[in-house]
Amino acid sequence: MSHHLIFPSILTADFLHLEKEIEMVNASEADLLHLDIMDGVFVPNLTFGFPVIRQIRSVSKKPLDVHLMIADPDRYLEQYRDAGADWLTVHYETCPHLHRTIQKIGELGMKPAVSINPHTDVALLEPVLKDLNMVLVMTVNPGFGGQTFIEASWDKIRKLKKMIVDAGAETLIQVDGGVTEENIGDLIHAGVDVFVVGNTIFSAQDPAQVISNLKNPS
Ligand code: DX5
Ligand code: ZN
Repeated sequence: MSHHLIFPSILTADFLHLEKEIEMVNASEADLLHLDIMDGVFVPNLTFGFPVIRQIRSVSKKPLDVHLMIADPDRYLEQYRDAGADWLTVHYETCPHLHRTIQKIGELGMKPAVSINPHTDVALLEPVLKDLNMVLVMTVNPGFGGQTFIEASWDKIRKLKKMIVDAGAETLIQVDGGVTEENIGDLIHAGVDVFVVGNTIFSAQDPAQVISNLKNPS
């Protein structure tokens, strides 16, 4: 019996009826709610800011997993905490003083995670592995929902799993991008603990049923 977690990403949700979408997630088997923050600088897309996160926080019964795809995230860590982030992920590629950033996220009372782009070697996280609640292996290039899973991710996931086991760490492995009902079983088998899922859930006729299928794969 697997203990993997499902984090719906609202990136492809219906923003005109966001409260309804979040109520669907509230009533579902989802574990946390994943929010994608994009600044149009680090990634070629823009999403939303603090007031929207605060409003989502006020209706979400699930804790918030906030994924920052922004340049210089150090400037805003406290504001994301105040807006309601419970788990906070920064990108390796945006943090010249990554160790300090991770410490700060923890001091602010959030669970720290670091994300790596598809081209970034997972071995670079070895020195900070034990300080992290979670590593996010991007399985698409960040910026858009509904993209196809990058096959080279399999090796990175297996390599990361080995690093975590060898270090005796409890760091979770999260993947984000291109997760489907078809590939989730193999990903669990490869060692993934946490699944961010956008398009597969929000483009479905019955999103709550899809969340249940992802949570209990056959
Ligand atoms: C992409 C975002 C993802 C995205 C995943 O930059 O980080 O969270 O919503 O979307 P799907 O599941 O549609 O690939
Ligand atoms: Zn994301």
